[in-house]
Amino acid sequence: MVLSTDFVTGVLEALYAVQLALRDVWHALGLSGAVADQPAWPFAQRLAAERLLLEPGHARRVVITLACVAVAVVLLLFALVLAGLRRPRQPLHARRRRLWRHGLVAGAAALLVFAPWPNKALLWAPAVPTSLHRAPQAFSTQSIAQGQAVFTQHCAQCHGADARGEGPLASQLAQWPPNLAGGLLWKRLEGELFWRVRHGMRDARSGAQTMPGAPALSDQEIWSALDYLQARASGQMLRDMGAWERPVRLPASRLNCRYGGLRSSDSLRGQRLQLVLPSAGEQALPKEDPRWVTVVLGTPPMGAAHAAPECLAEDRALLPALALLLGVAPQEVPGHRLFVDRDGWLRARSVPGQAAWSEDDLICRSESAPAPPAAVAAAADAPPAQGVDGLLRRMDADRMRLVRAGYPH
Ligand code: HEC
Repeated sequence: MVLSTDFVTGVLEALYAVQLALRDVWHALGLSGAVADQPAWPFAQRLAAERLLLEPGHARRVVITLACVAVAVVLLLFALVLAGLRRPRQPLHARRRRLWRHGLVAGAAALLVFAPWPNKALLWAPAVPTSLHRAPQAFSTQSIAQGQAVFTQHCAQCHGADARGEGPLASQLAQWPPNLAGGLLWKRLEGELFWRVRHGMRDARSGAQTMPGAPALSDQEIWSALDYLQARASGQMLRDMGAWERPVRLPASRLNCRYGGLRSSDSLRGQRLQLVLPSAGEQALPKEDPRWVTVVLGTPPMGAAHAAPECLAEDRALLPALALLLGVAPQEVPGHRLFVDRDGWLRARSVPGQAAWSEDDLICRSESAPAPPAAVAAAADAPPAQGVDGLLRRMDADRMRLVRAGYPH
């Protein structure tokens, strides 16, 4: 039996929702307090969703066992109903009914005994009070800038300025710091990363401290440091792999738009954005297009002949944030263009000097990225869309979801 990714993701989303609800009910009943302004997870364990994703055999056992338990419960309910009915007068009927009842109970017992119960050690992961916490702030140019300052001051001595784990103090530590510029951050729940930075880490066996906590930092500074690390890791991924293997958002920034005036880029969710980072020599503004909102960074060369762009990003923190996300130095950013999809994910990149868009510019796609059925159907009677049309169609058909440690984020 092969479980489809969508099915497994659905099960994981449900498990996550159940745990969140449990946490909130516990909190509402006054059985648990709040930590870092969010209800605390009250148990020492949580469901290990990451295992379900990584080990298909284990996921299959869990799903089959859940199904067995559900069927067993239904059988037992039937048996209960039968027991509750009035006794038939004819002994033959009474006997037959008793047989049925025993059969149902035996069937339920067999299901429970022979279900492929998953290994308990794989099912649970150790939890902390902030396990299910989510960053309270939006991923934004501000948080990235603040996080960079925090990281440089409090973390880089061990983790290295590039977060690859080779800071000046690294060699003197009991344990070498991990590479935080790779995929590690996405293997963890953000609430658990928060806890580790706040309280430090210990060696599982000896109990000796491996990373000190950061009691002097505010909660917000820690969340910001994590935003910064995520931006840096995304850029490194793009440099190493040529793609953003994990979806990354356009950091929220302030825009000045022809319609709507000053607004946050997040308020444009639902529309596609093309972010234009004009190079020094670029004279004309890009042509506007009804298929997307054009956002121009910086002060464009606006002579009297030029109308103001649809949206202007005056936020000075946007360029360094984009440099991090693109994995280039800030002076290399001008000349890039980026497409942001309707959900706010950065999806496609055109590099300086590139003439036209093509589907190959889509550098953030879901793992399987099958040819979208709509595109296939359309291709049958229409010529395949090319250039920017093909790119947009692909981008819209393949929607991104961010998963961390197996849970939707
Ligand atoms: C004294 C050196 C040191 C400092 C300072 C330090 N770290 Fe660490 N950090 C480490 C070491 C060592 C590890 C690996 C610990 C382990 O795996 O037991 C680590 C691990 C981590 C991890 C990975 C956690 C995981 O789930 O595997 C993150 C994220 C992290 N540090 C972030 C930070 C941030 C953010 C700061 C600054 C606020 C910081 N660190 C300051 C040494 C340090």
